[in-house]
Amino acid sequence: MKLLVFAGSTREKSFNRRLARTCAAMAAASGAEVTHIELADFDVPMYNADLEARGTPADVIRLKQLCFEHPAWLICTPEYNASYPALLKNTLDWISSPVKGDPVWNDDFRATRGKVVGVLSASPGALGGLRSQSHLAPLLINLHCWLAPQNFALGRAGDAFDEAGNLVNETQRKHVQAVIDQVLWAAGRLAP
Ligand SMILES: Cc1cc2nc3c(=O)[nH]c(=O)nc-3n(C[C@H](O)[C@H](O)[C@H](O)COP(=O)(O)O)c2cc1C
Repeated sequence: MKLLVFAGSTREKSFNRRLARTCAAMAAASGAEVTHIELADFDVPMYNADLEARGTPADVIRLKQLCFEHPAWLICTPEYNASYPALLKNTLDWISSPVKGDPVWNDDFRATRGKVVGVLSASPGALGGLRSQSHLAPLLINLHCWLAPQNFALGRAGDAFDEAGNLVNETQRKHVQAVIDQVLWAAGRLAP
């Protein structure tokens, strides 16, 4: 199963980037064909329809193609003001915006339709960014994704990783594994 993993943060010492790295390693160990991307590697401006009318940026098309090619995704989201960050909204808005006149990408939901998505979050707070997930869920469903019921919110994330960035607590690792297992299981049944 081809699994796409990314975090909604570009911060150097991001907890969600570390959680995404953990997810990618654990999913690969579970047999998934993992593509782990960093959103910082994509040159995606703030969405603006006038700018888009002059041509969809090449990195947006690159992201659309990556999303399209992967039936399963894992997203690790930070929590900003009890919701998910603008980086994720902007990224998902771009990839769901049709490229007018393009015979392939004129379909709004080509990159997102039918994807099985597992959502995780990490925060220094006790709730682990859980509230960001409840905002991200309706957006993903609007994009015609299947949202995995299994989720995980990593609280007190400042204490959760060792120096090398590994998630150390076995119980927390089991929660991450449960999300991975469910996403791979469901994508295996839903993927054409
Ligand atoms: C504007 C802003 C709002 C925030 N709001 C919340 C919040 O509602 N809940 C929370 O747990 N953390 C909140 N935080 C703290 C983030 O969880 C923290 O900065 C976290 O490290 C961001 O994720 P990252 O480490 O993956 O970059 C907020 C941070 C910022 C900058």
